[in-house]
Amino acid sequence: MQTKKKRSLNSNPSSSDGLDLDPARLPHHVAIIMDGNGRWATRRLLNRINGHQQGADTVRTIIRTSREAGISILTLYAFSTENWERPQIEVNALMDLLKKFLKSEQQELMDNHIRLNAIGQINRLPDDVRQTLHETMTLTRENNAMLLNLALSYGGRSEIVKMVRDIARKSVQGEIDPESITSECIQEHLYTRGIPDPDLLIRTSGEMRISNFLLWQIAYAEIYITETLWPDFSKDEFIQIIKDYQQRDRRFGKINSQRRSLKVREH
Ligand code: FPP
Repeated sequence: MQTKKKRSLNSNPSSSDGLDLDPARLPHHVAIIMDGNGRWATRRLLNRINGHQQGADTVRTIIRTSREAGISILTLYAFSTENWERPQIEVNALMDLLKKFLKSEQQELMDNHIRLNAIGQINRLPDDVRQTLHETMTLTRENNAMLLNLALSYGGRSEIVKMVRDIARKSVQGEIDPESITSECIQEHLYTRGIPDPDLLIRTSGEMRISNFLLWQIAYAEIYITETLWPDFSKDEFIQIIKDYQQRDRRFGKINSQRRSLKVREH
């Protein structure tokens, strides 16, 4: 009898060794702007929706690779607030793809102990998609090997507007003293509350822009832009980018000797 291929990676939660990565310098949080599905399809004389379908396969590969590498948080920009302006047929296809993807990945998320979270204007998603999303988040809520954070109907500016409104409301109600508003207070009022900022931001398809993604959170992220279109983005390239990140010198606005003395004091 043929046994089901075991996909769980839990017996080896941080198997970055096999990928030739330095486990001590792994990015804790990787965020990705997945771009180029449309161009990938157009170059093959295919429908843009075929590009998104192919892109969903890449999503699966990159989730698996992240887990295998021992990355703790993966945030994917799956649908922006601006994407609602695309032709209705494309929006519908993306929503359908998202719903099918969530359904089909539930078992793999459970097998690999991955928790699903969503950031963005979730109330704008169609009822059936929202329901599947909540179902998957509930199912995976106890998983703690990795957090998969999907940005859905997400926009950095609208996130900031919401944060300002929430803080202003609490201020008027006397719950927050305006003098006590700090960076930490702001972080507490963003969708990414409780989630550390990305260490590495990757954008595929060569565009040199941020496109309203995690505007507050990427203040000190290392940025890597690849020409590869998202459907062609591979495990190997992802690992190469993490290796590139591991060679970078992150100073957070300080100079090297300060960073060294900070480290000495930490230990
Ligand atoms: C950008 O390509 C990509 C998107 C707008 C959506 C991302 C969606 C996926 C990767 C597939 C489904 C996602 C999940 C989570 C299952 P584009 O259409 O802007 O490409 P273009 O710039 O070449 O036109």
